[in-house]
Amino acid sequence: MYCLGIEGTAEKLGIGIVSSEGAVLANVTEYQPLTRGIHPREAAQHHAEKMRSCIKAATKEAGMGLRETGLVAFSQGPGLGPCLRVAAVSARTIALRYGLPIIGVNHCIAHVEGGRLFTKGEDPLTLYVSGGNTQVIAYADGRYRVFGETLDIAVGNCLDQFARGADLKVPGGPIVEQLAAQGDYFPLPYVVKGMDLSFSGLLTAALEATKGHRIEDVCRSLQETAFSMLVEVTERALAQTRKKEVMLVGGVGVNRRLQEMLASMADEHGVRLLLPPREVMGDNGVMIAWLGLLMHNAGMRQRLEETAVRQRYRTDEVEVLWR
Ligand code: ATP
Ligand code: FE2
Repeated sequence: MYCLGIEGTAEKLGIGIVSSEGAVLANVTEYQPLTRGIHPREAAQHHAEKMRSCIKAATKEAGMGLRETGLVAFSQGPGLGPCLRVAAVSARTIALRYGLPIIGVNHCIAHVEGGRLFTKGEDPLTLYVSGGNTQVIAYADGRYRVFGETLDIAVGNCLDQFARGADLKVPGGPIVEQLAAQGDYFPLPYVVKGMDLSFSGLLTAALEATKGHRIEDVCRSLQETAFSMLVEVTERALAQTRKKEVMLVGGVGVNRRLQEMLASMADEHGVRLLLPPREVMGDNGVMIAWLGLLMHNAGMRQRLEETAVRQRYRTDEVEVLWR
């Protein structure tokens, strides 16, 4: 059996086709070049315009027709309402047209299950860091539990807003990483509350610091501070859960400095670090298709009425029947 997965929670549209054995037959992504922040309706418009051509490209890459896939999965949430609705409507249309079962999946869990597929991870503690999400996730007692998360903005959003405010290129992550490599560190507000994180004060302070410091130094300090916060919470969740693997997923996960910091923490604890390939670190349709297959093969089914989008779909709401 195969599954066509449609990812469309934010500015990126992704289509993936995967087999029940975990073979990736197609991975197509398209995104709207960002100059400002994400505009939900414009992003949704973009997805609607590109949907047909992306699905065509994916079926061509996989060498199969839609009818032969056997299952259609889509990102049901969390995410931006207008974007989610385009993905859901497209999935329903395909399901009805070809008589395929449909399954809406949780985007955050898809990152974890996709990550396990790409890295052959068994039971990792996962640090999921992107433009819209920052969570430390682990499986316990039939659910994926959130051990720590941001209380305000996501770490990727912090980097993006910083770049915009400091007149750098957007998205912020890559340019901040590049400039940080030539900078020196100075302290900025480090905010960890219990197991949770806050990045908005750090963002304000970093923007303020651009008035009196070299941009390279601010980028270095912003990165070191934000990533140390992430690694601290991950480390404490590792001690709590006693997992033997730690995995990094999400668009911010391509950052070499973050990978290095997490690697040295993992090394100290004698746990294995799992890093998916760069092209599937961020949002992609493959992880959606794969989670759809896991759920379907575990006997989980959805009626059309149950496929409404869920903008605030929480990671721990899903009963995990496939593990
Ligand atoms: P989600 O829907 O999961 O929140 P997203 O829409 O933010 O995902 P992703 O591709 O997962 O999409 O992540 C994009 C984020 O990754 C942006 O905030 C971007 O700045 C950040 N990013 C990209 N490259 C790097 C990098 N080299 N270092 C740090 N952050 C990066
Ligand atoms: Fe994501």
